[in-house]
Amino acid sequence: MSKVLDSWSRTREVCSALVVLNEVDSTNSYLMDNTKLSEYSVAISLNQTGGRGRWGREWVSRAGEGIAVSMVAPAPPGNLLENLTLVPLVVGASVVAAINSISAKPVAMKWPNDILFDDMKLGGILCEVRRDSKIVVGIGLNLEFQGARPSERAVSLSDFVPVDTVSLDDLISETVRLLMGNLTVPATKQRGLIAAALETIGKRVRVRGKDGVEWTGVAMGIDESGALRIRSDDGKEINVLSSEVDHLYQ
Ligand code: BTN
Repeated sequence: MSKVLDSWSRTREVCSALVVLNEVDSTNSYLMDNTKLSEYSVAISLNQTGGRGRWGREWVSRAGEGIAVSMVAPAPPGNLLENLTLVPLVVGASVVAAINSISAKPVAMKWPNDILFDDMKLGGILCEVRRDSKIVVGIGLNLEFQGARPSERAVSLSDFVPVDTVSLDDLISETVRLLMGNLTVPATKQRGLIAAALETIGKRVRVRGKDGVEWTGVAMGIDESGALRIRSDDGKEINVLSSEVDHLYQ
């Protein structure tokens, strides 16, 4: 990707501390372990070797092919567990807005944590609670594949944005700037930002719970807490909090 790494000066200006790691197991783990790094500290790496995804999965990104960005965010106000579901959705909406500010072709978000281009996975989000109750917000984005794509559903930024026009410093500084604002606005405003970025609403979806049980329906919207409201094919309205959701095109 472009002449990128000569400088992270804009990103450094926006956040409270920036750590650029030549190699790291996981930028999320780095910030989870380093509790001295306070709110709005950011860790970045282009070579994350043990990236973690949702549900204990791996997030695999070959050296130089993707970027891992993590940031320490304040805990949401009120009851931490009740208010946590909105956080990854607000992060997703912020990432979508940052990418769309540099791309003529829009990206969108799939509930609850995928960044999609053309229904293929460009990136993912993992948010974790640190022992001091701060939230570590982690974002992984595919930048440019050198060889075969790691999976047939994976897409990289260079597949739809001319690479020499992109400054990663601009993209990441804008992402961090939006995160810092959007994570602290009232929940009603956050739900508006999420609804605007969420491609899932109005789509037929297949839902798979942690128990492996699958069912289908139509996504109607999100509720107060960020749960996905689905009208199931047998006519029930179900609010889904912790499940995998696939968009169906049939
Ligand atoms: C998913 O799609 O399941 C979420 C993937 C999240 C990956 C990012 S990369 C930066 C941060 N560090 C990690 O170990 N994971 C997140």
